[in-house]
Formats: sequence, C-alpha cells, structure tokens
Amino acid sequence: MENNQTEAKKVIFSGVQPSGLLTIGNYLGAIKNWVSLADEYDCIYCVVDLHSITVRQVPAELRRRIYETLAVYIAAGIDPEKSTLFVQSHNPAHAELGWVLDCHTQFGELSRMTQFKDKSAKHADNINAGLFTYPALMAADILLYQTDLVPVGLDQKQHIELARDIAVRFNGIYGDTFKVPEGFIPQTGAKIASLSDPTRKMSKSDPNANGYVAILDKKDDIIRKFKRAVTDSEAVVRFAEGKDGINNLMNIYSCFTGKTHAEIEAEFAGKGYGDFKMAVGETVADKLAPIQAEFNRLMADKAYLESIMKQGAEVAAYRSKKTMRKVYKKLGFVQV
Ligand code: TYM
Repeated sequence: MENNQTEAKKVIFSGVQPSGLLTIGNYLGAIKNWVSLADEYDCIYCVVDLHSITVRQVPAELRRRIYETLAVYIAAGIDPEKSTLFVQSHNPAHAELGWVLDCHTQFGELSRMTQFKDKSAKHADNINAGLFTYPALMAADILLYQTDLVPVGLDQKQHIELARDIAVRFNGIYGDTFKVPEGFIPQTGAKIASLSDPTRKMSKSDPNANGYVAILDKKDDIIRKFKRAVTDSEAVVRFAEGKDGINNLMNIYSCFTGKTHAEIEAEFAGKGYGDFKMAVGETVADKLAPIQAEFNRLMADKAYLESIMKQGAEVAAYRSKKTMRKVYKKLGFVQV
C-alpha cells in the first residue's frame, strides 16, 4: 500500500545532533524546512547521537537530549506516521558504512573541513579521530538511504559536498552504488547568527546563553535576549552590508512571519530598534509557544517516544540493508 507510493517519491535525509538545547538556528535552518518538505518527499529524520560523542558528553544529559530532540521534531510538526524518525545508534548500518567510507576518504579532504578546524581549536584537549572522520560518517548517514535531497543550514554545505565527492568516487571505482545527493539550503534562515556576536553563527554549544535562543526558552527569556541583541548605532531598520545584527534580526523575523525584507523595512519605518526588537521577541515567543506545549506533552510520555524510536529504527534498518549488501558485494566481501 503506502510502500509503492513512498518508493516513487524522492528521498530526504537529515539530522540534528542531540548535543545541546536546540536553537532557533536549528529550527529555521533545518527543522522548519523538514516540516514543509514532509508531504512531498519520502523523509527520514534522524537524531544523530553517534555524531555527538566526537565531543565529550555527560551520559545522563545525552540520554535526556536524545528524547528531547525527537520530541522537538514531532512537536515542530513532523508526523511520525508519514516520515521515518529514528535514533542513529539504533541502526548499526551507519557505523558500518561509516567505516567503509573512512577507507574511501582522503586525509587531505578531511583536513580541509572548516568545522573540523573550528572544533579542534575549541576542543584542543580532545582532538580525537572521530572528530576528524565525522564527515565520512555523515556521508554514510546520507548515502545509506540513496538520498536525493539533504535539507540543512549553510554550515553543513561543505560536508554535503564531501558526501557527493565520496559517492562519485565510490561509484567510479566499483560501479553504480550510491545516489549522489544534493543539498537543500533555504534562502532565508540558512545562517542564523549569534545575538551577542552577529558575525558568528548561533550555536547550541555557545557557553553564552544570551547568544542563542533555544526552542524551549521561556517567553520572558526570549524577549530579554532579543532586547539585548547586539545591533548598530544607525537606528534604522534596513537590510544592508555592515548591519549584521539588524540583518540577522530581520532574517529571523522574516522566517517566522513570511514577510520580505522590504515589508519589514516598511513596517518599522520611523521606529527605533527598541520597537523592532520587541516585535521580533514577541513574534518568536508566540510562534514557539505551541511547539513548546506539544514538546512538554510528548516528554511526559516516554513510552510513546520509545515506540516511535523502535518503529523508526526497524524501517531504517530495513531500508539500509539493501545498500549495505550492495556495498559489501561490490567491495568483494563474502556473503553467506
Ligand atoms: P547540527 O546538529 O550542528 O545542526 C543541525 C542542523 O541545524 C543547522 N544549523 C543552523 N542553521 C542555520 N543557522 C544556524 N545558526 C544553525 N546552526 C545549525 C545545521 O546546518 C543542520 O542542518 N553534521 C550535522 C548533523 C548531521 C547530518 C547528517 C545532517 C549528521 N548526519 C546527515 C544532514 C545529513 C550537524 O552537526 O548538525
């Protein structure tokens, strides 16, 4: 029944690391678009827990965040009956294909990954091999499901390009094995900046909580963070070079309201930054409120979340088996 239909649709794969409180950057850059694509595509959305241990985690917190991340996906509007939702470590094929792709990825390619350079500077005491080879695991996540499209924020563009390069290389050596995926990066919202330093991206691992707005932040905190957001001294709400702080707030407001930059400029013509920041804060808090309510309901029902994880892992394992058999056969491994 469903299966024939889903097979005809193009496949989407994406994931978020359960390594911190999800921010409106994760929401606007990725999850919000996942929701809008869910009806048209055959979607697989993963909580990528294997990725998060490239940085040291507190086990009890990581466990809680895996549930939370899944709950955010559903609360944001992804229907687990229509899309496959699962936890990466529940399908061992990711680690298996990750190893195979490690052996087909060059040291030089991985050395050029800007996220590796940033993260190794930030965690100088723990530059582990997993942090280095992480993009090959990400390629495995994507290629395992013969994915067509990968909706992500701009910071993942380089990793997607590497996944494409690996797929093309593998296909070139062994014959057609993997679909070569495309990135899907939104026009607005692909790079939400930190509120305290708008030249940097908003990040869930930022030690300064004023820099990010978490999807689960309370209304008062959201408004306070926007009030404090770093802007400039021009006091005119317009989108222009050199106005990183205002540009960022305009992007956020645009994503949540659907208004264009020109419409936002007109709305706030003759008004100060105080009014604008207040409007952005109020809007973001109001748009997040229903997601938060649904999140709280879901978190009170762990058994339900576990049933989704189980059901999703079965589907994911079933679907990836076909690719793994093909890969092992092409490599020359014996299949009995
Ligand atoms: P992660 O967990 O850092 O981020 C999850 C998603 O959120 C996007 N994002 C942002 N978008 C706009 N502005 C921001 N400030 C911002 N911060 C984060 C990211 O681009 C991403 O889409 N390696 C990935 C997770 C991953 C994955 C995959 C993604 C693992 N395997 C396979 C797609 C396909 C990561 O660390 O994302």
